Amino acid sequence: MKKVGVNDAELAYRDEGAGPPIIFLHAFPLNQSMWDDQRPALASNYRVITFDWRGFGESSLGGGTSTMGVFADDLAGLMNELGIDRATICGLSMGGYAAFAFYRKYAARVAALVLANTRSNADTEDGRRRRYEMVEVARQSGLSALADKMIPKLLAPITSKTKPQIVRWVRSMIEGNQAEGIARALIGMAERPDSTALLLEINCPTLVLVGSEDGLAPPSEAEKMGRLIPDARLEAIQGAGHLSNLERVDDFNRALVDFLERS
Ligand code: MLT
Repeated sequence: MKKVGVNDAELAYRDEGAGPPIIFLHAFPLNQSMWDDQRPALASNYRVITFDWRGFGESSLGGGTSTMGVFADDLAGLMNELGIDRATICGLSMGGYAAFAFYRKYAARVAALVLANTRSNADTEDGRRRRYEMVEVARQSGLSALADKMIPKLLAPITSKTKPQIVRWVRSMIEGNQAEGIARALIGMAERPDSTALLLEINCPTLVLVGSEDGLAPPSEAEKMGRLIPDARLEAIQGAGHLSNLERVDDFNRALVDFLERS
């Protein structure tokens, strides 16, 4: 793992393989190791970059709220540091929210987009209220308490039942984070703008992926994005919940490689 100073934070990243670059944006409240099963599948043909958002994993907290715009600027800064002008951007859930913010600011730097288990709408009032309750959970009760609340929503029931190693992996990613980093990203997500109008302006090849059992970013949201983005392909990963890339590794990787080969 390497580290580089970007804006007012230090970002931990991995940079492996050679070929056209693909940069993975991790979900909340995880870290870049959620992509451990994607890296080996791609690194023989692509330059694969993963990193921890500020306040997650081994990246430093930086200053201020971790808005999706701040994340977008961090991604642009990381690309500058790594000498990458354009890349395929693959974001899952919060990674997708950040991908929208990046596209809004830096469209010319996006060669292709993968939007996995994400949604374009902003939070509802109720959703925003629940985010701020979670901020209190993170700050007052800590990340084990947050993991208890979130894991049942992140994984399909069948995954929780049959793949205890995945449950343990997700828990260790959550508990390995910094409570304040999690709190700041929760506020950043609560404040994110609606990106639905942006979908119509996305003019690069786009893959929309969804887990058939995803309750947080449900298939109806993915279908909407697939309809509104002009050059989009939609694929449902059967049996996967919200973390489709680690619940159904082979199906996720096959869809991704197939898309990358064609785009
Ligand atoms: C994520 O997986 O990144 C989060 O569930 C996103 C969210 O809470 O909206």
